[in-house]
Amino acid sequence: MATISSTCFLFLPIIIIIITLSSSSLFPTTLCATVLQDLKNLHPPPDFNTTIINNCLKNPSLRYCTSSPTINLDEIFKYSIVASHLCNESNNPNCVESFPKIDLRNRPNIASLYLSFTFFWKYCPLSVLSIDFSNNSIKGSFPNDVLYCTQIQSLDLSINEFSGDIPIQSFSPLTNLTFLNLSYNCFSESELSESQFFKKFNSSSFLHSGALFDHKRFTIKAIILLVGFPVFVILMVIFLGWVCFQRPDFLPTMFQRSMKFTPAILKAATFGYSNENLVGKSDIIHIYKGVLRDGTKVKIEMYLNEISRDSYHKFVEECIILCELQHKNLVKVLGWCKGRKFRAIITEWTKEENVEMWLLELAPSWNHRVKVLMGVVDCMLYLQEEWPEVDYDLKTNSILLSDKKEPLISRFQVGDKNNNSRKICNFGVFVLEMILNKKVQEEFDGSDTEYISYIRTLHHAELHQMIDERMNVTETTLHQIKQVLSLGLMCIDQSSSEQPSLDQIFNIVSRAYKASLVLPSANHKILHGDRVKGHKRVQFK
Ligand SMILES: *[C@@H]1O[C@H](CO)[C@@H](O)[C@H](O)[C@H]1NC(C)=O
Ligand SMILES: *[C@@H]1O[C@H](CO)[C@@H](O)[C@H](O)[C@H]1NC(C)=O
Ligand SMILES: *[C@@H]1O[C@H](CO)[C@@H](O)[C@H](O)[C@H]1NC(C)=O
Ligand SMILES: *[C@@H]1O[C@H](CO)[C@@H](O)[C@H](O)[C@H]1NC(C)=O
Ligand SMILES: *[C@@H]1O[C@H](CO)[C@@H](O)[C@H](O)[C@H]1NC(C)=O
Ligand SMILES: *[C@@H]1O[C@H](CO)[C@@H](O)[C@H](O)[C@H]1NC(C)=O
Repeated sequence: MATISSTCFLFLPIIIIIITLSSSSLFPTTLCATVLQDLKNLHPPPDFNTTIINNCLKNPSLRYCTSSPTINLDEIFKYSIVASHLCNESNNPNCVESFPKIDLRNRPNIASLYLSFTFFWKYCPLSVLSIDFSNNSIKGSFPNDVLYCTQIQSLDLSINEFSGDIPIQSFSPLTNLTFLNLSYNCFSESELSESQFFKKFNSSSFLHSGALFDHKRFTIKAIILLVGFPVFVILMVIFLGWVCFQRPDFLPTMFQRSMKFTPAILKAATFGYSNENLVGKSDIIHIYKGVLRDGTKVKIEMYLNEISRDSYHKFVEECIILCELQHKNLVKVLGWCKGRKFRAIITEWTKEENVEMWLLELAPSWNHRVKVLMGVVDCMLYLQEEWPEVDYDLKTNSILLSDKKEPLISRFQVGDKNNNSRKICNFGVFVLEMILNKKVQEEFDGSDTEYISYIRTLHHAELHQMIDERMNVTETTLHQIKQVLSLGLMCIDQSSSEQPSLDQIFNIVSRAYKASLVLPSANHKILHGDRVKGHKRVQFK
């Protein structure tokens, strides 16, 4: 049945046209308007009940005779009006005696209107054997009302815009139907060849109708759907699994476990472990530079040696602790990774300049050196208070420098809680290296113990001779340098009770640091007697 909306749509233009072209030459529209007018104005004559009864006596097979429970005279009268118009409209030769065809081919203006008269179709005249509504661009679902005319032999609904399902079951009473054309419509896909009824028609009745007539094609589509869908689901599951387990960095941030990296992430970050990204290599350690998906530059230290399951658990536990560390003078550990043949620690990427190179090549001023010492002590204090189990390396070649010339402790690990004395001793050596001439230490070929014993044999005066003169030492700085130097000496004295506590170290170094801040920057010598006051405001914060 054509939808109500399309019917209303048709009424509107018709009424407008009647007003503008009242004595119109536009034949079909006028006729159409006549139907509606007749339906409105004409009423059954008083003896219509008698006429109907007589008709039924003469021809009991008439549809309206069998309609139950009571005959609706008004509907039957409207039906007869529509029937007479439609018969004439369909160019039947003699509408008084016979009404063999409903032919509204190529009549888009009126076709929908006639389709909408349900009361007509309900009493569809038995004389009608052929119905043609083709080429009318009618929209809507299949016009089920037409199927009230069960006696028809021919039905043509081709070249319209019918959509939805073809009511396959409703066709079965149309036993005399020999011609059917549903071509060029937009029906939804359904397999007609399944139904016994449609077997007598061939595919030319369903060209471009949307319905599938060809059994094979339907089967193929069904198979594609039946096989394709599970395959699709499986692929989705595999894909999601891959994302979750291999590339969690593709997940929304809230689902990411940021500390655990997968081998696939590392592979992507290093462009497949490319040689350009390999920045350091030994037998068991490979160090790569990488870029994560969010743009973070990272250093990836890969350990290729085999370790036992227990050691691996220990490794993970340690990594979890290292990831917790948060200090501006500590290289940030971002996470770890376990691959089949390696484990790796991922840290933020830092410039490779270390304090040793810096001292050697740039001969920094005392101000800069004491700032580095301050940073290191600050970090040591943080670790002692929050993470006493974390051990670190204070060698000048392992402490890096940030862009802002802040020291960055880059080698650390979870170790022994009770080695504060050694940590402080190491700091002492670091202090000496920061202050004294490099040449002295080089003679000991990296052996700290020998270096320490040698230093301890020296007198203060001798030591002062060894202060790195490239600092451009002045009267004022010299005092501070000497103070810090003696602090260093106290620190390396591991045996005696003279070794200061970290708090004491912190106090001394901060004092030196604060004093250095009020000094004019750079390597300017201050003339003796210059007052420092004028600079005082600068950097105390
Ligand atoms: C037809 O209807 C009229 C009243 O509308 C009634 O008087 C008459 O008996 C009816 N005739 C038949 C045959 O039912
Ligand atoms: C039937 O149609 C013809 C033109 O085809 C017209 O002249 C005639 O008036 C129509 N009759 C009725 C009853 O509508
Ligand atoms: C369908 O109708 C249009 C005019 O509405 C006409 O031009 C066209 O030839 C018709 N097509 C067929 C197949 O009858
Ligand atoms: C089909 O045609 C035969 C013979 O003309 C007729 O007897 C029969 O009632 C028709 N079937 C329907 C469903 O109208
Ligand atoms: C389909 O059937 C019609 C008769 O109903 C026939 O003329 C036509 O050749 C058939 N077409 C095919 C493709 O079999
Ligand atoms: C149905 O209509 C289309 C379009 O007019 C036509 O191509 C096709 O041959 C027709 N099919 C039959 C069985 O007449």
